[in-house]
Parts: sequence; C-alpha cells; structure tokens
Amino acid sequence: MPRPSASAFVLLVAVAALLAGVSVAAEEEVVTCSGMVPMSDRVGRISIADFGGVGDGRTLNTKAFREAVYRIRHLHRPGGTLLYVPPGVYLTESFNLTSHMTLYLAKGAVIKATQDTSNWPLIAPLPSYGRGRERPGGRYMSFIHGDGLQDVIITGENGTIDGQGDVWWNMWRQRTLSFTRPNLIELVNSRDIIISNVVFQNSPFWNIHPVYCSNVVVRYVTILAPLDSPNTDGIDPDSSSNVCIEDSYISVGDDLVSVKSGWDEYGIAYGRPSSNITIRRLTGSSPFGGIAIGSETSGGVENVLAENINLYKVGVGIHVKTNTGRGGFIRNITFSDVYVETARKGIKISGDVGDHPDDKYDPNALPVVKGILIKGVWGTNVQQAGLIRGIKDSPFTGVCLSNINLRGKPGPREAPWLCSDVSGAAFKVSPSPCSELTSVSQSVSCATYS
Ligand SMILES: *[C@@H]1O[C@H](CO)[C@@H](O)[C@H](O)[C@H]1NC(C)=O
Ligand SMILES: *[C@@H]1O[C@H](CO)[C@@H](O)[C@H](O)[C@H]1NC(C)=O
Ligand SMILES: *[C@@H]1O[C@H](CO)[C@@H](O)[C@H](O)[C@H]1NC(C)=O
Ligand SMILES: *[C@@H]1O[C@H](CO)[C@@H](O)[C@H](O)[C@H]1NC(C)=O
Repeated sequence: MPRPSASAFVLLVAVAALLAGVSVAAEEEVVTCSGMVPMSDRVGRISIADFGGVGDGRTLNTKAFREAVYRIRHLHRPGGTLLYVPPGVYLTESFNLTSHMTLYLAKGAVIKATQDTSNWPLIAPLPSYGRGRERPGGRYMSFIHGDGLQDVIITGENGTIDGQGDVWWNMWRQRTLSFTRPNLIELVNSRDIIISNVVFQNSPFWNIHPVYCSNVVVRYVTILAPLDSPNTDGIDPDSSSNVCIEDSYISVGDDLVSVKSGWDEYGIAYGRPSSNITIRRLTGSSPFGGIAIGSETSGGVENVLAENINLYKVGVGIHVKTNTGRGGFIRNITFSDVYVETARKGIKISGDVGDHPDDKYDPNALPVVKGILIKGVWGTNVQQAGLIRGIKDSPFTGVCLSNINLRGKPGPREAPWLCSDVSGAAFKVSPSPCSELTSVSQSVSCATYS
C-alpha cells in the first residue's frame, strides 16, 4: 500500500483551496432573472380532480381541462387561480390557458397529449410566417395554447408535459402531414409568463414557442426528445422581447434554443423584432445547433446575451443563420463562456441557411448582420472550429472573436477556419482564424464592434 505522499498532500491542499473557492463563490450573488416577472401567489386553488379529471393514463380529460380553464376565466379572482394537477397520467386533447392562472403539476403528474390526431384543432398561420412553417395554410394548434394572455405560470414539482410526438414524427417521415405539426406549448401575444420546474418531452414540433410576447421567464426546465426526432427545437423566442432562459437542460432533435422573428416577406411586413433575450447556464445535446439565432429573422434580432453554456455532442455549438430574402437584421449579439465537447462545428455564422415560404420572397431583401461578439469558448473534439459565410452584397461586419480555443480530435487533421464576406477582429483564437478577421492585440478592441 503506498504511503501518504507528497502528491496526497498536494491533493489535500487542492481540495481545501477548492472548498474555499466554493464558499467564496457561494457568497457571490448569482445573476438570475427570477425577479423579472412577479411570481403571483395564487390564493384561489382548484384541482383538475374537481372537474372530473382522472389520472389513469386512459381516460380522456379534455373536458376537465377546458372546463377548469373556463372556470378560472370566469371566476375572475383577484390574484388569479391555480389549477392543481395531482400525481397521475392525464391524457387529453389540446387546451387553451387563460390569464391570471398557474398550471401546477405535482410531482408525478403527467399531462399527456392524445395520439388521435384526427380531431386536432387548426388555427390560422402566424402573420409573420404567412403560412404554416412546414406546410402551406393553417397549422395545428399547440398542445397547450395561449393567445392574448397575461400573468400565466406553468410550474410545479417537475411534473411532465408529454406531447407523445412519435405519431407526428412518423407522419412527417412518411410525408403524410396535411398541416404544420403542433408545438408543445405556444403563447401568442402574451406577457408576464413564467415557465419553471416542468419536464417537457416528445413534442410533435418545437417545444416552447413564445411569439409576439414580452417578459417571459423560462427556468429550471428539462426538455427531452429523441435526437432523431424532426424539428423538436427546445425553446424558440420569436418576435418577442425581454425573454430570459436559464438553468435548464435540453436534449432534443433540433436547436436547443433558437431566437427567431418571422419568415421572409411576411416577417418583414410584420416587422416585430426579438430583443433583449438572455440565455444562461444551459446544458444540452442536439444533432443541430446548441444556441442558435435564425434562420427566420425577418423582423430583426438584437440584444441577445448567451452565457455559461455547456454543450455535449452537438452539430454546431453556436449557430447564427439567415438567408437572402430574409431582410431584417441580427445585431448586438454576445456569446460568452461556452464549452463545447464533440461537435461538427464550433461556431457557424452563415447567410445561406433555410428555405423560403413561397416564391414571392424578395431576393433583394438582404439581412444586415452586425456586431457579433463571441468570447471565452473552449471546445474539444470539434471537427471544424469555425465557418463564417457572409452575403456578398451585404457582408457581415463587426464579428469579434476573443479567447477561443477549439480543438479537434487529437491528431494532425484539424479543419481550418473558413470565412467569406465578413470583417471584424480576433484576439487569442486557436486554431488561428481566417485572415478576414483582423488580428488584434487586446480583447477590448472587440468593444468597438458591439
Ligand atoms: C383556443 O384558442 C384558439 C386560438 O386563440 C381559438 O381559435 C380556439 O377557439 C380556442 N379554443 C377554445 C376551446 O377556447
Ligand atoms: C426540479 O428540477 C430542477 C431543475 O432540474 C431542480 O433544480 C429542482 O431541485 C427540482 N425540484 C424538485 C421539487 O424536484
Ligand atoms: C431592452 O432593454 C433595454 C435596456 O434595458 C430597454 O431600454 C429597452 O426598452 C428594452 N426593449 C424592449 C423592446 O423592451
Ligand atoms: C447590447 O446587448 C446587451 C445585452 O447583451 C445590452 O445590455 C446592451 O444594452 C445592448 N447595447 C445596445 C447599444 O443596445
């Protein structure tokens, strides 16, 4: 048996230092958006059981959910009403929420979408998209839906909202979809929203979609879908402002988070940007983007901060994407402290991604991409560090990279950075970036680009 040695002593000192570090860190205030939207304490409470809800996994509870929400709307209690979902599996068709309500899922509560797609309600396309995102015309209403609401909370003790999306994924695979698949949760034109401490799984399409919303907080959520499930984006803030996403885990079949703002001529005409978006302390996996902007950005995207992100097995760690015909802008975007382990690409900023709604888009509507700051990115097993492909007649400007180290598989083959139609600066970037980005000697130079 080895004697206690110098190395054991070093270990002891290291542990002590670590503990001291932890206690110092604990005293520092953790930045959070918990106070951004007031967490109303609902005095009024009702239970889905009061409306005949049965959590046996077989009984269809549509009537119970719709009546409970109808009751909350008409009770009109000051302070709002909480709808309690006890442990059990509650199968239901889609339903709407109302203002001043909390949907509360107890530990062990599961709200499960029916797989009978034949009666699924259809709603009008979003004006900023002009049509359904994947099929022309209307689209299936989201499983849980809200339009024109305020003061809505979806929370509890980490109960589950399950979209049972495989029937929808199979229709997509077999090309038998008549309309665009439903999101798991969509809130349209709403404000003061909190979504926290809930597990979302197997969404038919995008998971959480706030569109034309403001003051939205999403925190302590877990979002799960198989890596091969089509278009199961985690959270897509769309033409929305003051959105904060933090402390969550997402593992899905498409982008973990993607900030959007409408599609080509429809998004340009609607003209509603996404702004003031914070994304922090997120962990996840996806065969597509880790943190993404776009590609639907026709209303513009600005003032986005993504920080302290941990990505494992992703297609592209940081992905900013747009296209000709999109118009709009992407500006003042900051990514900071991102760890990427195993990815095809670490960073991609690209002006040729995504399809068009129809052939009426204006090929001369060029997006303006300006002021993208990426600092503190550390990656291992990254096949290609970076690819930046601007638009010839609208080059990307002010792209600034600092303190970036993206390593490939151990060995000599490391794909170099590729850039075109872009200008900006680079400071301490390894492997060394393309010559389009001016090498600078201080990271402060980046400040002038934001
Ligand atoms: C739910 O909301 C949608 C969209 O606002 C609306 O078309 C539909 O009639 C509502 N359904 C119910 C049952 O209230
Ligand atoms: C719910 O999940 C969150 C985030 O994963 C976790 O921080 C929290 O402790 C969990 N809460 C309960 C009541 O299990
Ligand atoms: C975004 O945040 C800035 C600074 O806090 C604020 O002045 C601005 O009004 C916000 N924008 C929107 C659309 O809320
Ligand atoms: C740029 O975005 C950041 C958030 O990342 C925000 O704090 C800042 O005010 C924005 N700058 C301008 C000029 O709007």
